[in-house]
Amino acid sequence: MPKTNGFTENADLYRTSLAHSELHDLESALEALPDLPGLSVLDIATGAGHTAFFFAQKHADTFAVDINEDMLRVAQEESDKRSLSIRFLKCPADDLMFDDETFDVASCRLAAHHFQDVDAFIAEVARVLRPGGTLLVIDNVVPDDDSETAQWLNRYERQRDPEHQVCLSASVWKERLEKHDFAVAQSDRFKKRLLFDPWMARMSKDDGTRDSLWQQLQSAPDSVLKYWDPKLDSENRRTVRLQRQILVATKVC
Ligand SMILES: C[S@@+](CC[C@H](N)C(=O)[O-])C[C@H]1O[C@@H](n2cnc3c(N)ncnc32)[C@H](O)[C@@H]1O
Repeated sequence: MPKTNGFTENADLYRTSLAHSELHDLESALEALPDLPGLSVLDIATGAGHTAFFFAQKHADTFAVDINEDMLRVAQEESDKRSLSIRFLKCPADDLMFDDETFDVASCRLAAHHFQDVDAFIAEVARVLRPGGTLLVIDNVVPDDDSETAQWLNRYERQRDPEHQVCLSASVWKERLEKHDFAVAQSDRFKKRLLFDPWMARMSKDDGTRDSLWQQLQSAPDSVLKYWDPKLDSENRRTVRLQRQILVATKVC
């Protein structure tokens, strides 16, 4: 099974992270999803569980998987506190432990950039979804038409998190989904401004490393500055503006 060591010592920070617990992106996808009450939903790479909580609170019958036991522990604790009934299981995204055609909806939010094999993940989702089922993917993306900027951003992400694999562009996501017989019903861009220091702290970066990574951003190519817009906010805190794609795709029968 692949490892996500970076999350182990910081699992608790994901419980409260605004980058993960603010759910405007999920709310905005709701219209493109089927009516959730009573549907079976699988949340893949659930982390501290925020997406699974969202579905369970909409009365979906919710399962959630992740490979990191510390993240699963935090998710289970938080789910219990909220009196939600979610089944959390240890399982990799590219080898799901479920029978064919088990779920109506699958979701994967802010996690696919960690996967070593995105195609294997999509193929597994296609297998466990019922015909006509829906996949919701939300992830950080790189620009479509500028491979140098895309490479720069992915290299930078790898300095923050050595287990980072790759952020794809929106058009590559669409191609990959279509290759596995999904029809993309919605693809929307969503810009999310993050506090830089908590973002770095979630991957155990000390003050010195944070300062040097911030400096590196200041001298990044113009295309990177335009794409991530690093700047101080009104309270003098360092921020970056990541770009996220919300994709809703239907499994073609
Ligand atoms: C940032 S967290 C996920 C956030 C969460 N989905 C949310 O909406 O708040 C990323 C998670 O992906 C998990 N992960 C990474 N690679 C994985 C894989 N191959 N299979 C399953 N989980 C994986 C990590 O263990 C981590 O818990």
